Amino acid sequence: MKATVIVDALTPADAPRCAELEQILFPGDDPWSARAFLDALAWRHPYLAARSAGGAPIGTARSAGGAPISTARSAGGAPISTAREGDLLVGYAGIGFVAGPPDAEAEVHTIGVDPAFQGRGIGRALLRGLLAIADEAHATVFLEVRTDNDVARGLYESEGFAVVGLRRRYYRPSGADAHTMRRDAR
Ligand SMILES: CC(C)(COP(=O)(O)OP(=O)(O)OC[C@H]1O[C@@H](n2cnc3c(N)ncnc32)[C@H](O)[C@@H]1OP(=O)(O)O)[C@@H](O)C(=O)NCCC(=O)NCCS
Repeated sequence: MKATVIVDALTPADAPRCAELEQILFPGDDPWSARAFLDALAWRHPYLAARSAGGAPIGTARSAGGAPISTARSAGGAPISTAREGDLLVGYAGIGFVAGPPDAEAEVHTIGVDPAFQGRGIGRALLRGLLAIADEAHATVFLEVRTDNDVARGLYESEGFAVVGLRRRYYRPSGADAHTMRRDAR
């Protein structure tokens, strides 16, 4: 069975599923609760969702070679909602602005993809969605990534980020170190 993945705006109704994925993806690094996602949305931070259209059960999406991904955005750049009942949330990502123009700065808060859907371009599509939002504001973008997370780091480097710092014991309770990465404003 084929599954099309769309990227659109995360909504409060997605918060429990995000928390469920956080438990799977970040077990030792203080996974976010549904409340944390609701708070981020209440602050109007831009958060995106990747949905397997038609609600394909986990594991039945298109096999290697990648799910076709379309990004639903209006001409003005704001995500438009095309989600339908039965769609399955398979990924999420969020960014926050910490400074406005003329020296706009944004921080990637989180990005995660359901393990059953990883390696199909969904993480990159979500990241590009966040970066498009940052670029509209010509913002410099920062993020933290575990020093042992080669997959995520490779993804970030391929999208223009470079390591600019090291934060020891950044993650709790694991105590893992983080690299700070930066992507110049565009
Ligand atoms: C990091 C993460 C979001 C990437 O999402 P994804 O949908 O699997 O990534 P994509 O399929 O878009 O692949 C992006 C790049 O990551 C790398 N990558 C993906 N899967 C990989 C794997 N199994 N092995 C090595 N590299 C891999 C590749 O460089 C790939 O680019 P390419 O396919 O053009 O070569 C996802 O792995 C994830 O949720 N990981 C756990 C949570 C996490 O670590 N989040 C980041 C916290 S900073």
